[in-house]
Amino acid sequence: MMIGAHAQQLTRDNASPVGDNQNSQTAGPAGPVLLQDSQLVEKLQRFDRERIPERVVHARGTGAFGDFVSTADISDLSIAQVFTPGTKTPVFVRFSSVMGYRGSPEQARDPRGFAVKFYTQQGNWDVVGINWPIFFIRDAIKFPDFVHANKPSAVTGVQDANLAFDFFAHTPEATSMLTHLYSDEGMPDSYRKMDGYGVHAFKLVNANGDVHYVKFHWKSQQGIEGIRPKDIPASIGNDWNLMTNDLYGALKAGNDPKWDLYIQVLNPQDLDKFDYDALDDTKVWTDVPERKIGTLTLDRIPDNYFESTEESAFAPSRMVPGIEPSEDRMLQGRLFAYADTQTYRLGVNYNQLPINRPLAPVQNNNQDGAMNSSGRHGEVNYEPSTLHELSQDPKYKYVSTPLAGSTQQRAIHKTLDFRQAGEYYRSLSATGKLDLVTALSADLNHVTNDANKYTMLSYFYKADADYGTRLAHLTHADLSRVQTAAASLSE
Ligand code: HEM
Repeated sequence: MMIGAHAQQLTRDNASPVGDNQNSQTAGPAGPVLLQDSQLVEKLQRFDRERIPERVVHARGTGAFGDFVSTADISDLSIAQVFTPGTKTPVFVRFSSVMGYRGSPEQARDPRGFAVKFYTQQGNWDVVGINWPIFFIRDAIKFPDFVHANKPSAVTGVQDANLAFDFFAHTPEATSMLTHLYSDEGMPDSYRKMDGYGVHAFKLVNANGDVHYVKFHWKSQQGIEGIRPKDIPASIGNDWNLMTNDLYGALKAGNDPKWDLYIQVLNPQDLDKFDYDALDDTKVWTDVPERKIGTLTLDRIPDNYFESTEESAFAPSRMVPGIEPSEDRMLQGRLFAYADTQTYRLGVNYNQLPINRPLAPVQNNNQDGAMNSSGRHGEVNYEPSTLHELSQDPKYKYVSTPLAGSTQQRAIHKTLDFRQAGEYYRSLSATGKLDLVTALSADLNHVTNDANKYTMLSYFYKADADYGTRLAHLTHADLSRVQTAAASLSE
């Protein structure tokens, strides 16, 4: 083939030039293809290995680059350099749906992932959140069961509301999250038009070692919008990739989306002042004021989907000095699970991939492993050593936390499973309530097991009598049976 004057030479992976990329080398005009055609063999081998395991959850995602600028002095709360006012920190953000496969339609009744990687001068910090302030369950030991019941069926490969509600009928703490899920916000039509939350409490630690518990909230400057149930068929019919096309369309047009970061702050001695457990991730912190500490702007579409969005690895355990985990039981499980799955999904040296590599220098004795390219050098690969000292500044030690009691396997005391679901329901407009009961009853009508159906209805009735009554009506249920079941539930 004639090559244009400015075209780049096609090469193999060893950089040697390719003469013909259209015809395999054969034994004569009618003979078989030759194994010695290493360009053909290499091309097929590389193609055969293009896919890696998709994320076990949040497989369908979209990424964008940008920056975070801190605007408030919170040195009384945290020594983290990322919070120094005026500091501009590069970020990579990955939005996602949760239950669908990697190529699944982006319109789904599903929470949306809102994962932010801050490339700070003190190392990478990840806030791996979602678009609501709460979650379905409060103990990591339940997470695989929750996901199995909500992912496509193990038999048909199709999501099945009957299986999901079989799990939720045994999970009263999910009532508030389910109420969010079936609201119009449960079907966002734009990643730009939703908020983000860190969900769990985290600890901020200041220079004196004082601890404050905080929750993070990204407030969209674009406002919040969802798809109403009546508009879902048309919306899905129009564009299966609505969310990505919306975000990238805005970025291409120079219409950069922004979110302000707010925090709620609690003193450790105030954790127990609520009638719910403040470290239970199924709860919002009611009546705790928020303060703004910075702004996130997205401004750049990655030019390689695989090397950014697919190879990015976010983990709640990835923190920097001044930010530590709380004792929230879900968060504690997450601290293990993400880096663990990433060593499987991407390999042990995934932190060396460009999208995950910190901007701050990495200096430690971790070494080797598949595909290592860290460039560490020197034969002192241990510590302590007089030949090559590595200092450790005590100001970066983990903060100490007082403990009490014996080891145990018990549920938390202050469960309060239903009240905040009712508060959320009552905060919705008349249209919002109508859309919620319309969408939720449509899925409850798929529940074939009578006991599960009445248990679910009793949860919603317990949250709010009007909410439960309307659902009972729309699912042709016996209201007095729902009321009796609800009366037997504890607060
Ligand atoms: C103990 C409970 C949980 C476990 C064990 C868990 C586990 C996982 C795993 C294994 C992944 C895939 C990570 C990867 O392959 O890179 C993931 C992704 C994700 N999870 Fe969780 N998860 C839990 C709860 C939560 C909660 C409560 C939230 C929200 C606050 C959340 C938000 C996310 C997000 C946003 C992603 C996608 C990150 C990305 O874009 O790459 N997860 N989770």
